[in-house]
Amino acid sequence: MTQATPASLLTVFGATGDLARRMLLPSLYGLQAENLLPDGMQILGTARSELDRESFAQLVADSIAAFIPATQRNDRALHGLLERLDYQPASADDDASMAALAATVDRLRHGDVLYHMSTAPKFYGPACHALAAHGVAGPGTRVMLEKPIGKDLASAIAINDSVAQSFDEERVYRVDHYLGKEGVQNLIALRFGNALFEPLWNARHIEQVQITVGETVGVEGRGDYYDDSGALRDMLQNHLLQLLCLVAMEPPARFDPTAVRNEKIKVLRSLRAIDRSNVATESVIGQYTAGASDGVAVPGYADELGRASRTETFVALRAHVDNWRWSGVPFYLRTGKRLPSRSTEIYIQFRKVPYSIFGGPAATDMQPNGLLIKLQPEERIELDLMSKTPGLDRNGLRLSQVALDLDFHQEFANARKRIAYERLYLDALEGNGTLFVRRDETEAAWQWVDAIAGGWREAGMVPKPYPAGTWGPSATVSLVDRLGHAWRE
Ligand code: BG6
Repeated sequence: MTQATPASLLTVFGATGDLARRMLLPSLYGLQAENLLPDGMQILGTARSELDRESFAQLVADSIAAFIPATQRNDRALHGLLERLDYQPASADDDASMAALAATVDRLRHGDVLYHMSTAPKFYGPACHALAAHGVAGPGTRVMLEKPIGKDLASAIAINDSVAQSFDEERVYRVDHYLGKEGVQNLIALRFGNALFEPLWNARHIEQVQITVGETVGVEGRGDYYDDSGALRDMLQNHLLQLLCLVAMEPPARFDPTAVRNEKIKVLRSLRAIDRSNVATESVIGQYTAGASDGVAVPGYADELGRASRTETFVALRAHVDNWRWSGVPFYLRTGKRLPSRSTEIYIQFRKVPYSIFGGPAATDMQPNGLLIKLQPEERIELDLMSKTPGLDRNGLRLSQVALDLDFHQEFANARKRIAYERLYLDALEGNGTLFVRRDETEAAWQWVDAIAGGWREAGMVPKPYPAGTWGPSATVSLVDRLGHAWRE
């Protein structure tokens, strides 16, 4: 293994696209503003558009103006970023343009190179081959790949195989932007930076786990992509399963790429199959109809799309991690578009006290302890405990549930809210793959998800309607209710 050194050149494919303008360029600005980009590192944008350096610089400046709050902008940082920029039009299916790109890469690099593929995934393999054919994909280069890596296991393998012809796995950085979120890393810090939780973190003490990623948005003009994908492939295969892995994995020996990813893959491989035989009881799918989102009337999915569709915009699953630690503990996963609130959270409900010493009214007051790890929109950790309700009561004491609440935006009031890509860029530029997804993880996740999608098809399951602004079809309640649980709302 050759030791990575900080990249001397970052080449962004799809540099004029939506993701680049909203997230990637603003993240590079954030790193520049804090002097975190490697000294002398150049940024080369590439896309089909025939822009020159000046018009690309203008696009970058416009993106910063649009997506970075005015209070965080300053001319010095913007100037510093613009000075690093260059642009070279290219298209993976046009070899002459790729040769010209490779020549520019060669001219600008003076050390390691990081490529970032933010294009349609079908171009990943061809672009990597062209870079290799033109001699700029050898040692000291690495490549970041955006999701989705395929739409099922077979297409994921095809993309991974194709990229692997030019970049060995150690040099491939698959993005799941949830891993770049501060709150997600905080989950790792919470689990492995405190002695308190580990003894309780197992089936003996945990009754159920819920992972919710709720969005209020609809499909926002991405109908064509989304309709081909749906909530299972767009969100659950990657973001929710990564969160599940971080909650369920064994303590890694070190916080490094191999140790962390070795533990995550074991979780993915321990997931109990959901397929034709049990898909009807273990999953619920829905599609939003007209309703209200944030108090505004919104059309249904089919109207937004302009045609009828069987794509699910909501999915809820009851998953099981079949190993010693988690045997019998349901992991409820749910995600969807047009839900009542934008909220990403992990809720861990502990088991009830083994025996209640309290008789009288307190016996019915008793609630199990819960740990809420809220990742979005606010970052908050809440520990629900039982406490005595203040007062004198002749019938015996009363209990109330109280929350020990740690709000990170208050606790670390001076910390700026970062874009997930700032962390991911910083790590990939320096050659640290801990927060990126390894090939075996992506493929294991696809394998599990494929069985679910196949099960729906074979069982003839179609999404149930739910009005925009509600928590999915009513069957979602029965999914948890069957084991005596309730969603945390
Ligand atoms: C993307 C999905 O991966 O994540 C989108 O393709 C989704 O459909 C987005 O809206 C959600 O990300 P975040 O960071 O806003 O929670």
